[in-house]
Amino acid sequence: MSRVVSIKDLGTCMGQQVTLQGWVSGKRSSGKIAFLLVRDGTGLCQCTVEATRESAFSEAGRCGLETSLRITGEARADERSPGGVELSVDTVEIIQAVEEYPIARKAHGIDFLMSHRHLWLRSTRQAAIMKIRHTVIKAARDFFDDNDFTLIDTPIFQPGAAEGAGTLFEVDYFDDDKAYLAQTGQLYLETAAMALGKVYCFGPTFRAEKSKTRRHLTEFWMIEPEVAFYELPDLERLSEDFITFIVKAVLARNREELEILERDASKLEKIDTPFPRVTYTEAVDLLKSEALHEKLHAQMAEDSEELRGWEKARDGLEEQLLQAKKAWKKEKLNAELERLKERIQERIIDLGNRPKHIEDARNFEWGKDFGGDEETILSNEFERPLIVTHYPREVKAFYMKRSEENPEVVLNLDVLAPEGYGEIVGGSQREDQLDLLAQRLADEGMDPAPYEWYLDLRRYGTVPHGGFGLGIERTVAWICGLKHIRETIPYPRLMGRLFP
Ligand code: 4AD
Ligand code: MG
Repeated sequence: MSRVVSIKDLGTCMGQQVTLQGWVSGKRSSGKIAFLLVRDGTGLCQCTVEATRESAFSEAGRCGLETSLRITGEARADERSPGGVELSVDTVEIIQAVEEYPIARKAHGIDFLMSHRHLWLRSTRQAAIMKIRHTVIKAARDFFDDNDFTLIDTPIFQPGAAEGAGTLFEVDYFDDDKAYLAQTGQLYLETAAMALGKVYCFGPTFRAEKSKTRRHLTEFWMIEPEVAFYELPDLERLSEDFITFIVKAVLARNREELEILERDASKLEKIDTPFPRVTYTEAVDLLKSEALHEKLHAQMAEDSEELRGWEKARDGLEEQLLQAKKAWKKEKLNAELERLKERIQERIIDLGNRPKHIEDARNFEWGKDFGGDEETILSNEFERPLIVTHYPREVKAFYMKRSEENPEVVLNLDVLAPEGYGEIVGGSQREDQLDLLAQRLADEGMDPAPYEWYLDLRRYGTVPHGGFGLGIERTVAWICGLKHIRETIPYPRLMGRLFP
């Protein structure tokens, strides 16, 4: 065996004898030459095995999809290989030959793929999403680390609710006690902000969301800053700087992955400060405005037109498929056809739902919380994330500070990602007055006993302060341009999905 190298470093090994270690992710043969497409987690490389290399050629013949191997040969420039370098193979050492890999190249349904998540992660698309997730998390942490924030690890077992009792996961905690899985680290983080000034926490959070939507997980990762002496305008600025920093990091490090995902990067390139800002009340006016409805109807007509184009393309592909003779050609056309059919199906459903969404927007009443549909309509109106502030007190958490000018609203912010993605950040200035906070607990019918420690912050040196939480998965879904949040986390936990 010669020197082992990673595929990403092959470019520096031209003309040298090297060994790759990985898995077979594609194969074809022309009789005289076998082409193995090998991946090792760092990239893809086309490996060419000539029939004259008898033993290597016969081993290549045994390599089904996901066969694990070590493969040795000379690195040569070749533009047909994905990284521009191919391996001219001398020896193939199979570690385990795989005959029938469960995930074939044909299209599978989402349930099948979800049940095979442990294998599905190996696909190029899923690996690309994981790499972008990694960048998002690293950038998010770098941002706070480089801006004088201290990381504080808040508990996962907690004695009570912070984000509404309706979504608590309860667990037995010895003898007769109950504990609840953290919905947020925030309340604990506030205590640390009084000790250290600027702090953040990052960890898994849990919500028993009893609805199946494309935006909700029951276990998701949230990063939350909290800052002493910050008021709402400071939080608005922090959130736009933070989100912009993350997007720029992905653009700098993950061009290749964005391309694999067919993500239109120009949409991300438009993300910069300042973000547009509206109050909840202005957002409601926008939802109800005649001009918006006209625009939405025009958009619907345009999208229907596009759908007709896709349907024509589908008919064309079906025709080509009938004519195709070679197996690889059929496979390629089939895959293309499946993708197109899926898109058509989704568009039909989407167009079917839209008249109701437009109608709901028209009839929206001040005082209700925005649902996914309203957020989609609002965030579609802007190219940059939209900061919405001053929501009605009734629909928001007990700890949010009331506005002095209008006690019916709170000093909060939600940041809605563009292209219809909706809320990725939620936060607020906190109620820092003891009597008002105690009153809020009472209004919500909450027992103050489990919150006495939290109320202490308002007894001993209270100051204005605030923070927010950014959901990692929703952010990754937006940046990657994914329709559903389930692909943004290695093992999604949803209502009805705890396996594998
Ligand atoms: O708006 P939320 O509920 O805010 C809080 O938890 C605050 N305590 C944060 C703070 O002020 N420190 O959640 C914040 C973000 C949402 O904007 C969303 O991105 C994400 O967390 N999130 C979810 N992501 C996936 N699945 C769910 N069920 C989520 N619920 C919230
Ligand atoms: Mg929220």
